[in-house]
Amino acid sequence: MKKNKISIYIHIPFCESRCHYCDFCSSLLNRENAEKYFSYLEREIKLNENFLREKIIDTVFIGGGTPSSVDEKFIERILKVLSAFEFSENLEVTIESNPNSLTREKAETYFSSGINRISIGAQSFNDDILKKIGRIHKSYDIYKAVENARSAGFRNINLDLMLALPSQKLSDIEKSLEDIKKLDLPHISYYSLILEKGTKLYARHLKSSLAFPSEDEDRKMYHYVVNELEKIGLHQYEISNFAKIGYECRHNLTYWKLKDYISFGLSASSNLCNLRYRNFSDFKNYYEALDKKEKPIEFSETLTKTDRTNEFIMMGLRLKSGIDLDEFDLRFKEDFSKTYKDEIDKNIKLSLIEVKDNKIYLTEKGKDLSNQVELDFFSLRAKK
Ligand SMILES: C[S@@+](CC[C@H](N)C(=O)[O-])C[C@H]1O[C@@H](n2cnc3c(N)ncnc32)[C@H](O)[C@@H]1O
Ligand code: SF4
Repeated sequence: MKKNKISIYIHIPFCESRCHYCDFCSSLLNRENAEKYFSYLEREIKLNENFLREKIIDTVFIGGGTPSSVDEKFIERILKVLSAFEFSENLEVTIESNPNSLTREKAETYFSSGINRISIGAQSFNDDILKKIGRIHKSYDIYKAVENARSAGFRNINLDLMLALPSQKLSDIEKSLEDIKKLDLPHISYYSLILEKGTKLYARHLKSSLAFPSEDEDRKMYHYVVNELEKIGLHQYEISNFAKIGYECRHNLTYWKLKDYISFGLSASSNLCNLRYRNFSDFKNYYEALDKKEKPIEFSETLTKTDRTNEFIMMGLRLKSGIDLDEFDLRFKEDFSKTYKDEIDKNIKLSLIEVKDNKIYLTEKGKDLSNQVELDFFSLRAKK
């Protein structure tokens, strides 16, 4: 039997402190709980042994939380557990890290355990902004972390940065770009802040005590980032992601291209064909299910054709490679150009999209109004 490829996400729900903007599933690191958590993670992987035996593991992403906050032995052990299964020849294994916890020793252990891509959460190179958003490192630590990763052998290194932060100015972005150029990395992610309910930043925003950049300033900063990164050979292959050719994150591309992935750990969600499910987000329920040798699934749903087509359109619009109309027709047994004729014509007239080589792309103007374009395409099936 021919084995299909699969991507694996592993969630590490621990951080050394909570940043003021973040609502990812994570709690403060506690060594005892971390030890227990990793032993349960191992049990969860083993519960899926039969499924994994029939697959070729193509990418692994160890994310969080902060995977670099825990003892590197735990990470090494998890990779050993996965090594019982078949890996693809060009396996990509990523780990997320924070500048303050990515020591040289940790980077070396990761590299020798087979991790070949490292993502470092820099967020900003401005120390005042870092403090304001609750980061526990300074810009100096970002340099140190990159140096640690490089001296351990990593070439495929990413920095995560953020836009639209409180009191952020174009001059901060210019400074961050200077630092980025000095570091000469093959991948950069630049995320626009999402103000999440329940975070400290959200509470302060409600009291109106934060000076966020205006919409206009925000767009100026975004365009500056895109242009400067393109100049140094980091092409924008997704709205928030930039890479040198050959360094695009294959794991994230599986999400954006709606390919199958299975995830392990607290709150982790999986997508296998039309089935989407999510694990429990609290330790107690997660542990109890595994004690009973049950999968720790809190919620699952079968995606409808509308869910899948809408997702395919949304993801395609975010990607530089665009919405692939041939792939759409093949996947959904439907002619995209016929079904969406009115929406295509309307958005071309508004100069928001263009069609080339049977693919649909957002124009520069369309990138700023991507939500409007998405809603237009989504509304077709909602009307039916
Ligand atoms: C799950 S975090 C893990 C990385 C690592 N713990 C760190 O903080 O550096 C991955 C990235 O998501 C981004 N992020 C987190 N919260 C966000 C938010 N509210 N809006 C936009 N980006 C966010 C940050 O850039 C962060 O580096
Ligand atoms: S941004 Fe990273 S370090 Fe900060 S709370 Fe979120 S996961 Fe933890």
